Amino acid sequence: MAEKLFLYVLTDTHYISEKMWEEGDPINSREKGDQIAIKSTPQILRTFFDKILADDEVRHVLITGDLINSGEKQSHLDFINELKVLTDAGKHVYVTTATHDYAGEGEDGDENIFHATYYAKDGCRPTERVGKKDLLPLYYDFGPAQSDSVHETGSYSLPIQEGYRLIAINDNGNGRSHCGLFDEGFDWLVGEIRKAKANGELVFLAVHHPVIPPWEVFRAAADFEMFGGYERMRKIMCEENVKIIFTGHTHVQGIKKYTDEQGRFFYDITTTALPSANGKMRRVVFDKDAGTCDIKSVGIETIKGWDTQGLSAHDYISRLNFGGALEQAFEAADTDWDGFLKKASGTLPVDKLQKHPHLAKWGVKKFNKLKMSTVAKLAGRKSGLTKEEKETLKGEKAKDVVFTVMDHIQGGNAPYTPDTPEYKALHGVTRRVDKLMKLVHFDLNKKLPGIHSLSEMADPFFYNNRTGDDDAILIEGLE
Ligand SMILES: [Fe+2]
Ligand SMILES: [Fe+2]
Repeated sequence: MAEKLFLYVLTDTHYISEKMWEEGDPINSREKGDQIAIKSTPQILRTFFDKILADDEVRHVLITGDLINSGEKQSHLDFINELKVLTDAGKHVYVTTATHDYAGEGEDGDENIFHATYYAKDGCRPTERVGKKDLLPLYYDFGPAQSDSVHETGSYSLPIQEGYRLIAINDNGNGRSHCGLFDEGFDWLVGEIRKAKANGELVFLAVHHPVIPPWEVFRAAADFEMFGGYERMRKIMCEENVKIIFTGHTHVQGIKKYTDEQGRFFYDITTTALPSANGKMRRVVFDKDAGTCDIKSVGIETIKGWDTQGLSAHDYISRLNFGGALEQAFEAADTDWDGFLKKASGTLPVDKLQKHPHLAKWGVKKFNKLKMSTVAKLAGRKSGLTKEEKETLKGEKAKDVVFTVMDHIQGGNAPYTPDTPEYKALHGVTRRVDKLMKLVHFDLNKKLPGIHSLSEMADPFFYNNRTGDDDAILIEGLE
């Protein structure tokens, strides 16, 4: 009999120390139009940690990289103090580090796109950084110290609880360099899996970068954002019968299944960034005897200790982000053009809009007025829309549907399933564009390898055509 393993999985906390910024344009423009909140990351983290502290059943917490903003030492030091609140309360905390956690200066042969930055009110200044080699000693107590094998990449193999083994892989690269394992690292990984299996342990993995992309277009457009060596990792997981890997990096909430030609499979459980509008952590329960893993998701309603101007955590963070900022700008556009430009700065090329003000105003106002019934007309007769459905679309603005789709890109579980009139209209339009592209001999596959049509590419943004629910799953048949 093995006891159940209870675990929280968090990722992409992107924490910034309160000592690393002062109120002003530099920090506010850093935050605006991103996918996450920045300034309130300490408060967001603490709000989630309060939930963990209140949950007596769960003893283990795993955080899979992008711990801090941009490689600055102060943020790491303060972040570690936050982790100690959990360990002082008796929780076991394990972390891996990733792309944002160090700022290289070329010494590791890495292209460096991150700079340790202090955001003063009058501009950004460099601040003390952490290099790649500093990360293992810095976080040694959070995983490596409890492990029986630590690889030079900082990856570690941890007997997390009797009968269970976590192998946490530290990505080698940052920015645009190779973010994955090399030959020798993969050999270490396979060796650890086999050892654990021989001991009868249930093995699961964690890594920052995705092994299965949230959508195929992600892989087609940005293969370098995938785990370096993801094909090899897929093969290893299928061959070695490891069914679960927890990932982050994409800031997308998703559960994806990969099945190879022989029917062997595994799941990539990717969790959205903690400080995103739909920020969540995973509550995971492994039951070795039953061979199951039950995964659920936990979000927050408010941000404790932060002035959200009366808004929920979702609405407050959403307004800072690209989609939410754009939505606010479009809301203002009809009555206050200058207000639109101000709100759109950082999300749209405002300078270009100002060069053609009449055309821009016309376009924006037209978009604001556009009804879904007009979209339905564009979808043509083969859209499958009934008369009644067309009627309901008359009362719906296209921009509301567009912004709803945008809000779910990261949050997962978009609402427009194939039976909804919105889906029929949107899907109909994408199919007509596909036909048009065929007519003019435009081959999407040449631009985005592996992507053959716009309709196929767009579908996963309208509804969850993955495993049915990006927040929860019960995985069975674990050995
Ligand atoms: Fe991230
Ligand atoms: Fe990342």
